[in-house]
Amino acid sequence: MVKVLRTVEELQRWRAQVRAAGRQVAFVPTMGSLHAGHLELMRAGRARVPAERGELVISIFVNPTQFNDANDLAAYPRDEAGDLALAAAEGVDVAFCPEPDALYPKGASTWVEVGGLDNHLCGASRPGHFRGVCTVVTKLWQLVAPDYGLFGRKDYQQLAILRRMHRDLFLCGEVVGVSTVREPDGLALSSRNVRLDPAARTQALAIPRFLDEVRARFEAGEREVEALLAGAGERLGAGEVHYVSAVDADDLQPVVRVEAPTLVALAVVFSGVRLIDNVLLEPGAS
Ligand code: PAF
Repeated sequence: MVKVLRTVEELQRWRAQVRAAGRQVAFVPTMGSLHAGHLELMRAGRARVPAERGELVISIFVNPTQFNDANDLAAYPRDEAGDLALAAAEGVDVAFCPEPDALYPKGASTWVEVGGLDNHLCGASRPGHFRGVCTVVTKLWQLVAPDYGLFGRKDYQQLAILRRMHRDLFLCGEVVGVSTVREPDGLALSSRNVRLDPAARTQALAIPRFLDEVRARFEAGEREVEALLAGAGERLGAGEVHYVSAVDADDLQPVVRVEAPTLVALAVVFSGVRLIDNVLLEPGAS
């Protein structure tokens, strides 16, 4: 059985008991609508903190401050009972499921913002999004005080920003990045996939196909970004391309040649559903 905690006070009490018992904590923050990608994060957490040594904790909270679009927030899929059943099957000990005013009480006016890493990729078209993510993750991190916090590499920009925030604010524990989980046909798992109608679901396969082609061109020796991404618009088919960019994997600034680890990342909308994905190109890695 997963213990469900809903208030900050309950979570603080639980954390104090765990600390007093000398047990570790692995933490997977989520916005619910759990899929196999989240389950992979939980398994990675459990591998670091086995049941005999500590607690596996998730949060389920659709964070309003990271949505720029009220329709997107309203349409975000929610299924707490289903999520808790999946979490129980993964051996999750505790789920923190607060209401918005628990994390943003009346008058809350403190924000956490990481400079410099959000001017490209998703940050460019979603002003305030990463400020919302950083603010909520700081609040959750402060409360859960994990030994390990686990995040997917599909949201590479989010992971890079959270790593920087964690370092700059001297937060406890460690940020762990976990590989993207894909459907057998290559589509990256996302809570948004359930909103794709069958036609859009098929069209969205253009994303993994495109990224595979980029990797193949890179492995064949191509290093010029213009050539790697040539024809992206047509290659992504029916999707409305928000961006396709190649950026330095560390500082997330655009590059024109792949000379250091480089992220090719994209956001494409199919039938109103915005999907993101990426491939990391590492010169010198075999
Ligand atoms: O990746 C997500 O699901 C969210 O951005 C996170 C990290 C749970 C913060 O709301």
